[in-house]
Amino acid sequence: QETGKGCVMYIGLDLGTSGLKGVLIDDAQGVVAEASAPLVVSRLHEGWSEQSPADWIAAAESVMDALSAQGLSKVRAIGLSGQMHGATLLDASDEVLRPCILWNDTRSHEEAAELDGDPMFRRVTGNIVFPGFTAPKLVWVRRHEPRIWEKVARVLLPKDYLRLWLTGEHVAEMSDAAGTSWLDTGRRDWSDDCLSATGLTRAHMPRLVEGSEVSGKLRDALSSRWGLPKGVVIAGGGGDNAASGVGVGVVKAGDAFVSLGTSGVLFAANDGYQPAPETAVHTFCHALPNTWHQMGVILAATDALNWYAGLVGDTAANLTGSRGDLKAPTKTVFLPYLGGERTPLNDAAIRGAFLGLEHAPARAAATRAVLEGVTFAIRDSRDALAATGTKIERLLAVGGGSRSDYWLRAIATALDIPVHLPVAGDFGGAIGAARLALMAATGAGAEVATLPPIARTVDPDRALTAAFDAGHARYRAAQSAIRGLK
Ligand code: XUL
Repeated sequence: QETGKGCVMYIGLDLGTSGLKGVLIDDAQGVVAEASAPLVVSRLHEGWSEQSPADWIAAAESVMDALSAQGLSKVRAIGLSGQMHGATLLDASDEVLRPCILWNDTRSHEEAAELDGDPMFRRVTGNIVFPGFTAPKLVWVRRHEPRIWEKVARVLLPKDYLRLWLTGEHVAEMSDAAGTSWLDTGRRDWSDDCLSATGLTRAHMPRLVEGSEVSGKLRDALSSRWGLPKGVVIAGGGGDNAASGVGVGVVKAGDAFVSLGTSGVLFAANDGYQPAPETAVHTFCHALPNTWHQMGVILAATDALNWYAGLVGDTAANLTGSRGDLKAPTKTVFLPYLGGERTPLNDAAIRGAFLGLEHAPARAAATRAVLEGVTFAIRDSRDALAATGTKIERLLAVGGGSRSDYWLRAIATALDIPVHLPVAGDFGGAIGAARLALMAATGAGAEVATLPPIARTVDPDRALTAAFDAGHARYRAAQSAIRGLK
């Protein structure tokens, strides 16, 4: 298909943790150009994870500069996607008060447990108050940085700070807002009760729009800098997982994707709101009006594999490359809880483990155990989703880890469902954001969020189903055995 000739175009920007990615698509959704810029995370103390919002702007400038080499005069809208849960604190003049505290920062685990102890939070938000979520971070700042707390006039999520720079407006959208612990997720509005329980009011919050709605217009100074027409609209966009859902066509009940990135996510679209916080499943608004999604989040997926590769002095690609046929799980069990776990454990203190080590060939067994351990963690998320009544009828795999065929076969077998692998291409948040831009500019809806072409389907190996069930039971036993170990 010929792309980019004479047609309207859209931009998606995805503010990730390790980099900002931009994609330019035409109105047939062909990718015309891509660009990215790296970002670093600063870890001043154990459990801390911060980024400077000024670095996000610099990354966005560099990505937009690169995309503008293609000529952006036909762009009609920009959509935003981003890492969720970060607390960007602004004073009354919109000056940034301190580095943003990111989604994988666990310093506020005590504050999270305190808030979660008030049943109102789970009732209103439909979720556990996890340590990575935004509200407990504000309670931490109030306690530990009172001078900063006094000046807080506005709290923005990471991508919404980019929006402020692009448009001059304070706006959030539902899918990302649902990860703050301040949103009434069923009613899709800020909860005054949740806000006041953390010493804040609605005035501290940005205005809310749906992901596919217009949130504002690009500032003229930026339009002329990059050669965009005047009045380009900025769509609400989505938290990176919801935006990825739109990008990979997972927008209606039955459809799901597994993302094997730094963290692992099992994401299912829902037609209605069906919270079940006791399962540690996340229930958030989707990026399209009147839809929701659920996900199990495991904090270390490829992160665990990369950690292990570093330990044995190899690369993840090498370790996963030539694994041959799928085998029954090893007796060696690996628990991937390097930085605690969200679904289904909600345990910031638990740490990973290898159990059942034996004589040779230890290295091969350990490698398989790591892949199996992450697989079983995803199976735990599948079981948690199933406990809420969510059924997965079609499962796609995305993210760097999906390049490992062995891993996909293990997942298909452990979850007993075929796994579809999209054709090469990036179906992350940036494409979803560009699709949301297209919707905001044209008024189109979910029909734009089609499934990508499938390169191949990995079927469960039914001869190994019983062995994987037994492996999962052993994993669960190991998990109980180490809980509480400090
Ligand atoms: C979701 C979550 C992560 C971040 C990563 O709840 O914490 O997936 O959104 O960017």
